[in-house]
Amino acid sequence: MKNVYIETYGCQMNQADSGIVAKVLTDNGYTLVNNQDDADVILINTCAVRDNAEKRIHNRVRDLQSLKKKHPLLKIGIIGCMAERLKDSLINEDKADVVCGPDAYRDIAALIGQTTGINVALSDEETYEDIVPLEIDSDGISAFISVMRGCENFCSYCVVPYTRGKERSRSASSIIKQAESLFNKGYRDITLLGQNVNSYRFEDNGKVIDFADLLAMTAAINPLLRVRFATSHPKDLSEKLIDTIASHKNICKYIHLPIQSGSDNMLKKMNRKYTVSQYLEKTDLIRRKIPDCALSTDVIAGFCGETEEDHRQTLEIFKRIGYDSAYMFKYSERPGTLASKKYADDVKEEEKVRRLQQIIDLQRELSLSSNKKDIGKTFEVLVEGESKRDKTKLYGRTSQNKVVIFDKQDNKKGDYILVEIENCTSATLFGKKKQ
Ligand code: SAH
Ligand code: SF4
Ligand code: F3S
Repeated sequence: MKNVYIETYGCQMNQADSGIVAKVLTDNGYTLVNNQDDADVILINTCAVRDNAEKRIHNRVRDLQSLKKKHPLLKIGIIGCMAERLKDSLINEDKADVVCGPDAYRDIAALIGQTTGINVALSDEETYEDIVPLEIDSDGISAFISVMRGCENFCSYCVVPYTRGKERSRSASSIIKQAESLFNKGYRDITLLGQNVNSYRFEDNGKVIDFADLLAMTAAINPLLRVRFATSHPKDLSEKLIDTIASHKNICKYIHLPIQSGSDNMLKKMNRKYTVSQYLEKTDLIRRKIPDCALSTDVIAGFCGETEEDHRQTLEIFKRIGYDSAYMFKYSERPGTLASKKYADDVKEEEKVRRLQQIIDLQRELSLSSNKKDIGKTFEVLVEGESKRDKTKLYGRTSQNKVVIFDKQDNKKGDYILVEIENCTSATLFGKKKQ
């Protein structure tokens, strides 16, 4: 009765959290399995950020109910952000057996033991820093470390402050210990995670450690360890952080800096607390201090009251900055958020689709032209595994977070290799090992 299968949706923080849940359960006598058919308990770690993410989960849970016919004692648990948002309706309407919010994972084994177990209490302090997560679904090279939890920025469209609660930072010493242990196990690429890592702050014996300090401390573990981070809120990106990235070879030259919109009107309604020109000051500073730094963004098309002119400004800013990659979304109204209370969701669905498609088409061109600029250059690539399409090839990433495919020869996962880029698509670079 103790086989558990965990399925993860949503952001990287959920991936890190699934590792915590796995650790708590294995400490309580459960065995992790990687096939739902072998499971006595199926846990789905969920995301509530957009309506379509939630729809997918409702469908998935409905499909899983049919497994109960074969396996009547099977328990289905919904954990994570949707559990926090929808609470007992997941038991009443979706027929879940267990509902566990992001701050209640220490309780997960006890909840599974109950007929219907629910705990969606949020905490002001919980960071799970004493729990060493299991690396599930891992390639053995890349890992995520949550350095903080929660968010208090209250961007008007966003549900995360309600599903993740108060912002809190984890002790630097526990983060460094986890990173060292991962490095010693062979991991070579670590991403420090938080909804807004720039507001990381931890006081240790009267000494304040900010995010730039934490990044430098992680990079100091070993020159062979690559350090990344996500996400940076533009309002808090400091010059000190940019200087720290510039001065450490093993801090990756890649910053994910979500702009959300290229229109000051929209940014104000979104409660992002920066203007387009303030954003540009930051990206200009990054370009000046770290000329080879890649930039990516998140953007929302069709937010409340967005006009064609606002949309055009978003396209303009994409061209001006020339993002290397982007995560692009249609606005999805979330119940309970400031925007849902204050503003009408008044851009028509087909208009949202059209605007989003325009941004996607533009970004594809920008990614292609960014990749074309790399042809002829040589990059240090960390090998992450065999190419899925062609076993004679390996894939890895550059410091700039671009995927590179090249001949395997006698190299293996975890190696650093100099690769000269010969060709590209908008998504991938192709190269050969520099002899
Ligand atoms: N903390 C990060 C983002 C977390 S959510 C930040 O501040 O950038 C990831 C992305 O989902 C957001 O950047 C935003 O682009 C998108 N998103 C959030 N809420 C959304 C909504 N209601 N509709 C559409 N996209 C949304
Ligand atoms: Fe959401 Fe804004 Fe917090 Fe990011 S910073 S998680 S977009 S509220
Ligand atoms: Fe989704 Fe929660 Fe992450 S809403 S984006 S899984 S913090």
